[in-house]
Amino acid sequence: AKKKGRLDFVNMKKNGEQVTWVTAYDFPMASFAEAAGMDMILVGDSLGMITLGYQGTIPVTMEDCISHCKAVRRGAPNTFVMGDMPFGSYQVSDQQAVENAVRFFKEADVDAIKLEGGVRVESRIKAMADAGMLVCGHIGLTPQSSGPLGGFKAQGLDPASARYVIEDALAVERAGAYALLVEAVPPELTQFLAKKLTIPVYSIGAGAPCDGQLLICGDMIGMFQAFTPKFVKVYANVAEVITNAFKEYVEDVRTGKFPGDEHCYHVRKGMEEEYAA
Ligand code: KIV
Ligand code: NA
Repeated sequence: AKKKGRLDFVNMKKNGEQVTWVTAYDFPMASFAEAAGMDMILVGDSLGMITLGYQGTIPVTMEDCISHCKAVRRGAPNTFVMGDMPFGSYQVSDQQAVENAVRFFKEADVDAIKLEGGVRVESRIKAMADAGMLVCGHIGLTPQSSGPLGGFKAQGLDPASARYVIEDALAVERAGAYALLVEAVPPELTQFLAKKLTIPVYSIGAGAPCDGQLLICGDMIGMFQAFTPKFVKVYANVAEVITNAFKEYVEDVRTGKFPGDEHCYHVRKGMEEEYAA
């Protein structure tokens, strides 16, 4: 299928077609997503937890993100790929944000980048959008600032808190972002935002009434085992499949069942005797 772009996503919103979106961090996962017909791939800084084994996203570096984006691009050459700006890559200044965002496009051939925050990053989004880059906002639960939020907690559950989420959404659109991702807020609030904004509004853990859905691959295929958020639907148990394969292999080697004759290269016909000597 032809790679989708911004205008396709605008049309999909207009026509009420849902965008399908998943994270991927490496070549095989990206190729599976593309083969499944996924509309977008996010190379999230969740790679810190899902592939690098960190407790959170804070330690993830620009080098980590660029390297994983490159692998994903190689695995999904015909899919819209979004890079995720890691903590520390845009907090200092608009200039720092633009310089690091540019790296994603020049070095990893992404189609868009994403950063966390609304009102507090309005000038960052504007600077990057003015520089000609597609920028996606990310509000609600923002894992990089889970400290101040008091942990990985749903946001906007009461009207006072919802007001902050709405202010953030308006700031993201005003700044020139092409799309907005809303994480872990009630569907009522998501629906309000999807209707209020002209740009597409996507959900991760924020219910159905919006323009598309994102899930973290490690969660939805049962590969990440530390915890699974309430909003995840688990479609497979890859951890079990792989662990069982490894167990069988261990057993086979220990009992001499592997390798079998069919797994061996054989000496040329008629030369067996020379080997026996
Ligand atoms: O890094 C990531 O995967 C994300 C999602 C949690 C939205 O930003
Ligand atoms: Na992220």
